[in-house]
Amino acid sequence: MMNRTIYILSLAVLAGGCSGGVTPLYKQADAPVEKRVDDLLSRMTLEEKILQLSQYTFGPNDNVNNIGEKFDNLPDGVGSFIFSSDDLHSRNELQRRAVENTRLGIPIIFGCDVIHGFGTIYPIPLAQACSWNPDLVEELSAMAASEARPSGVDWTFSPMIDIARDARWGRVAEGYGEDPYMASVMGCAAVRGYQGESLSDSLRVAACLKHYAGYGRSEGGRDYTATDISLQSLWETYLPPYEACIKEGAKTVMSAFNDINGVPATAHRYLLTDVLKGDWGFDGFVVSDWNAVRQLVSQGYADSRKQAAEKAIKAGLDMDMRDDCFRQYLSELVDEGKVGQKEINEAVRRILRVKFELGLFENPYRTETDFGERCLKPESIELSAKMAEESMVLLKNNGVLPLSKGRKYSVIGPVADDAGAMLGSWKCHGRNEDTESILEGIRNVFGAGVSYTRGCDFDGSDKSGFAEAVAMARRSDAVILCLGEKAAWSGENASRSSLRLPRIQEDLAEALSATGKPIILLLVNGRPLELASLEKSVDAILEVWQPGTAGGTPAARILLGDINPSGRLCITFPLTSGQIPIYYNHRQSSRPDMGLYQDIPSVPLYDFGYGLSYTEYDYGDMVIEKLHGGKYLATIDVTNSGKMDGFETVQWFIRDPFCSITRPVKELRYFEKRFIKAGETQRFTFEIDPMRDLAYVDGNGKRLLEDGEYRVIVKDKTVSFDFTVE
Ligand code: BGC
Repeated sequence: MMNRTIYILSLAVLAGGCSGGVTPLYKQADAPVEKRVDDLLSRMTLEEKILQLSQYTFGPNDNVNNIGEKFDNLPDGVGSFIFSSDDLHSRNELQRRAVENTRLGIPIIFGCDVIHGFGTIYPIPLAQACSWNPDLVEELSAMAASEARPSGVDWTFSPMIDIARDARWGRVAEGYGEDPYMASVMGCAAVRGYQGESLSDSLRVAACLKHYAGYGRSEGGRDYTATDISLQSLWETYLPPYEACIKEGAKTVMSAFNDINGVPATAHRYLLTDVLKGDWGFDGFVVSDWNAVRQLVSQGYADSRKQAAEKAIKAGLDMDMRDDCFRQYLSELVDEGKVGQKEINEAVRRILRVKFELGLFENPYRTETDFGERCLKPESIELSAKMAEESMVLLKNNGVLPLSKGRKYSVIGPVADDAGAMLGSWKCHGRNEDTESILEGIRNVFGAGVSYTRGCDFDGSDKSGFAEAVAMARRSDAVILCLGEKAAWSGENASRSSLRLPRIQEDLAEALSATGKPIILLLVNGRPLELASLEKSVDAILEVWQPGTAGGTPAARILLGDINPSGRLCITFPLTSGQIPIYYNHRQSSRPDMGLYQDIPSVPLYDFGYGLSYTEYDYGDMVIEKLHGGKYLATIDVTNSGKMDGFETVQWFIRDPFCSITRPVKELRYFEKRFIKAGETQRFTFEIDPMRDLAYVDGNGKRLLEDGEYRVIVKDKTVSFDFTVE
């Protein structure tokens, strides 16, 4: 105690400089964060605390789903704002009011949805996962942070690590696909990239894991609906990415809109307090999703907004996003003894901790520079192109690809010249005029001689452009057909009942196919599509996804064979929408050969992990040996037996054929992507840690490891080994 007092005093003397007295401890940059938090908390009134728990929007909100009530005359002490504009001057003025006009001068934390880039837009997260390259995900997240932080954003509402197995849900675009291991690896990479070594770094931002938890399971693929998730699936499928990213140091979490087994995530004490803050030791804060506190009333979980505020804060929610329930009712609830000072203090403490760690007290303002000085530097555009090239997936090739220069190509289709479609949803400050379309990319790579016509719109029934398209195709050596989705067809509140593209686009493909010319289909979309019918009309398919600012040239370079495609699917493409839900790591049915669809095949069109290359990779025999310390080593040699260098991703799966609970038919446990020269053989290994890789988690989150046979699966090779718990 004695030491502590001396320490505080000496720091105060050293810091000096505060006119009229000693600088309070919380304003001393060198004091430990926890001491600063304690000090500040001890000085705050209840009203000041409640304002810290409240978030509003500042400036225009670019999320069309979230245009709502306008709040005027907010007090200067509001803790957080969503800042979607690029008006740094107004942002600084608002911050100045908080820092200079309030008694304690607590800075605002500004958040924004920097989902796949700020000014430079990267491929959508679903595409990023198809690169199987977490290093690139980390790099681009760091680059996005380096544009966002100087632009006034301290905190991004990203990554979204919701597992999604129903692509009718528009938000599949925002996550890393259907597999928990993939989402964990990519989510951790994003957290590292956003946050770096220190949050106070002027080029990093705080990350936010969302939407905790189970949002991706929205029933029927319809956004905002309830989810019914067993505790087993919760722990096995939906929670692992969160646990991994919390361990990685993610500073904030956003609770989900959905309810889980009858309790909305916004007020789910088990998830927010017991698991997240308790078992996982999370020391950051939880923000609700937009208006989700008041939505507890629509969900039938609270009889009024006041009760909603009570239930949410008591469950462990720390910040109320934009629904004004905390500000309106918490003080009353404390007076009535329904909410304790302890709960309020706990939430404030968490928010202040992150603000201190971000260095906001020392650096609350941003230099008022132009957008062009902060964004779209050549290196960020190059990185966007690199991720685009690694994330595109070659789905079909009957030999027509790669193309060669000097021949006549026609580019046809509604997506070809549409830069906006390339950006996808949540484009943040991405601008169409800074974005390369497919057509521009093709002209850039193949030369201006390429002809172009649109053929038809994205939807509707106007076929008046078909005749010109067909005539142009006839004059060409091959057609590059560009189909897909408008940007707004995926993302939030963008549910679809079918994954099929509108009929007009399929008809255009059929009309072109009738010319007998080779057709290469390029797809720009934010979700897996139903390609059963389209696939028959074309010779090759390249899944381009929504590649962001710089996707046109990489797509064209893949067509030319200048880049060997290396993307692999991180989500299953069903044959038809009727197969949904369909994903690779399902449990075995009781009669595996029966229960099949009578009208269509029961297997997907393209599996998780699938993707073609311009070369061949031959896998040798797999060997498994026991290592000291209870681990195992699986080894496999991979030879690039084709003529082109390329990147191959070795995907390691585990299967436990018999266990105390039924287990998925196989589960991804590790992967590695490497460059292999034509003719070269490389050795790949996977070190199996039994507790991490063989064990299962039960419905209480407990990991259990059993003796018995396990199988390691790589491509079409399976090797079994017997394991005994030591
Ligand atoms: C979305 C969140 C987003 C928030 C703020 C909500 O509607 O569900 O993902 O971060 O809005 O824009």
